[in-house]
Amino acid sequence: MSMQLTYHGHSCFEVRSGDYAILIDPYLSGNKMATLSPDDVQVDAILVTHGHQDHVGDTVAIARRLKCPVIANYEISMYFAYKKQLKVKPMHIGGAIQLPWGKVKMTPALHGSALEIGEGEFVDGGLPGGYLVTMGDRTFYHAGDTALFSDIKLIGELNDIHAAALPIGDRFTMGIDDAIIAAKWLGATLHVPMHYNTFSQIEQDPQVWLKKARDQGLQAEVMEIGQTLTIQ
Ligand code: NI
Ligand code: MN
Repeated sequence: MSMQLTYHGHSCFEVRSGDYAILIDPYLSGNKMATLSPDDVQVDAILVTHGHQDHVGDTVAIARRLKCPVIANYEISMYFAYKKQLKVKPMHIGGAIQLPWGKVKMTPALHGSALEIGEGEFVDGGLPGGYLVTMGDRTFYHAGDTALFSDIKLIGELNDIHAAALPIGDRFTMGIDDAIIAAKWLGATLHVPMHYNTFSQIEQDPQVWLKKARDQGLQAEVMEIGQTLTIQ
């Protein structure tokens, strides 16, 4: 069964297969470029890669309205459960869980994960991660916010990845050139960029990344905000 992948700007992706859907890193109301309103989200679960506000985004509001579980690392999950009364499915790096709609494995990321609870106010959000989401028989790898690290090669070797989203914004994560190296290591059927142009500090030309990727023989696309691709 194919998978539908929709880009909602920054690092927010919706993954659909059959009657099920999930949303990763729903930074919508805070993102002027996002076209999806948090009020219109209809999904079975929300996945959060790490505690930074441009990833947690509208998680609390959406999860409360839909009464759907939030999947996150243990520390963020407990914060959401006890401080925000959300349904959670805690997990951690290296672990996988099987759910009615598919399988989620949390992968490492080299970044921070403090939860932003106010301006300049943080609580410990554990370690940052990425996700391997398998729905139907297709696997999407969302790298989260991360630097290039050599275990991305292992993630590529151990998994049959059909679509992979990699940050290209630089400054806080890998930039264009490191994301090309990561894509080569992953060897996914399709690679797409994320985490760029949302704010001035991460301005990048995704077409530069696209040309470099294709010059390396990689399958790559730049997704428009709101665009859906069918992952075969
Ligand atoms: Ni971050
Ligand atoms: Mn970020």
